[in-house]
Amino acid sequence: MIKVAIVGATGIVGQQAIVSLHNHPWFAVTKLAASERSAGKTYAQALQGADGASRWWCPEELPAEIGQMMVENAAEFDPESVDLIFSTVDTNIAKELEPKWAKTTPVISTASAFRYEADTPILVGGVNMEHTSLLAVQQRNRGWKGFIAPKSNCTISGLVVSLKPILTHFGVKRVVMTSLQAMSGAGRTPGLSAMDMMENVIPYIPGEEPKVESEPLKILGTLTGEGIKDAAFGITATCTRVPVLDGHLVAAFVETEKACTPEEVKAAMLDFGRDFCQLGLPSSPDRLIKVTDDPFRPQPRMDRDCGGGMTVTVGRIRKDPILPNGVKYVCLAHNTKLGAAKGAVQTAEYLVKHYLQWL
Ligand SMILES: NC(=O)c1ccc[n+]([C@@H]2O[C@H](COP(=O)([O-])OP(=O)(O)OC[C@H]3O[C@@H](n4cnc5c(N)ncnc54)[C@H](OP(=O)(O)O)[C@@H]3O)[C@@H](O)[C@H]2O)c1
Repeated sequence: MIKVAIVGATGIVGQQAIVSLHNHPWFAVTKLAASERSAGKTYAQALQGADGASRWWCPEELPAEIGQMMVENAAEFDPESVDLIFSTVDTNIAKELEPKWAKTTPVISTASAFRYEADTPILVGGVNMEHTSLLAVQQRNRGWKGFIAPKSNCTISGLVVSLKPILTHFGVKRVVMTSLQAMSGAGRTPGLSAMDMMENVIPYIPGEEPKVESEPLKILGTLTGEGIKDAAFGITATCTRVPVLDGHLVAAFVETEKACTPEEVKAAMLDFGRDFCQLGLPSSPDRLIKVTDDPFRPQPRMDRDCGGGMTVTVGRIRKDPILPNGVKYVCLAHNTKLGAAKGAVQTAEYLVKHYLQWL
């Protein structure tokens, strides 16, 4: 078994990583780490709030053996004590600690700290696996035995999966999008207040729109050898927070290069990702995109767990009446599964098999 650590294990994404790695056929969680607040406690103790209630968040039970494990201080964590690190800490902590770990050990990160570095790919399962070769450039540039492979921002995880087949078949000129983002996307440190969120929509998420407007262009860009040339289209976004627990919904309006019908877009989406799914990675779903014809779907509660939370559900594909060659649709992705922890585990599975060649 490949020994893995989850650093940031007590947070929302860290907890989802525990669930995603439970009974994993290749990976065994042998280390947990978080801030010094949690260090020196068992994992179950570290999750207890001041009122004594557990802050375990996932609907799945906390595995008993994980609850008993001691949590280490991330700042003192020995990266050589494991084979692979899942980093689910806040970005400012990631910026400081991940390069120290990457000197010796591969790091798969859900933080944004390294996403915008020229020698660092943002890998999204089935969308841009050819960008993996940039990790060798990163290792060479920085003299690291390991590497840092960041996941994308959770809001765009459904958007880039749905855009890729449109880009491939019809070309993309511009994208206008509005997100309706779940509360779990804000994390637990400090987390959102129920008083703010109940019966409400918050029309602004600090720092989100610049990420959403730039990351897809890198992810859908072309590998040039030493870097990535961004895809040549623009995205404009409004990001909002809604009172949903999990599952980010995006309303997308896409102007394509070539004219296309909603039926052709649907066919391209349904056909997308077969080869990647056939790799048989343990965390991959049967299909990357499900298209629904029900105009009342996708809905977060009903569709976020499609494909174990790893399939993007697209609905309401229709012609846009204003944009030239315009098509519009709604897509939904599970933000802490596809958009974070389980997506990170899937990236690790791909890298272990196709880059590190450990299996
Ligand atoms: N939530 C999502 O849907 C989502 C999706 C994609 C990416 N992300 C990214 O994933 C990362 C984790 O997000 P989250 O939602 O899980 O956040 P979170 O619930 O707030 O968890 C943060 C984690 O970081 C740890 N931490 C805080 N300060 C630390 C320090 N000084 N040193 C070491 N560890 C420290 C916390 O440990 P303690 O419990 O000990 O404080 C906790 O384990 C963030 O970078 C976020 O942007 C989140």
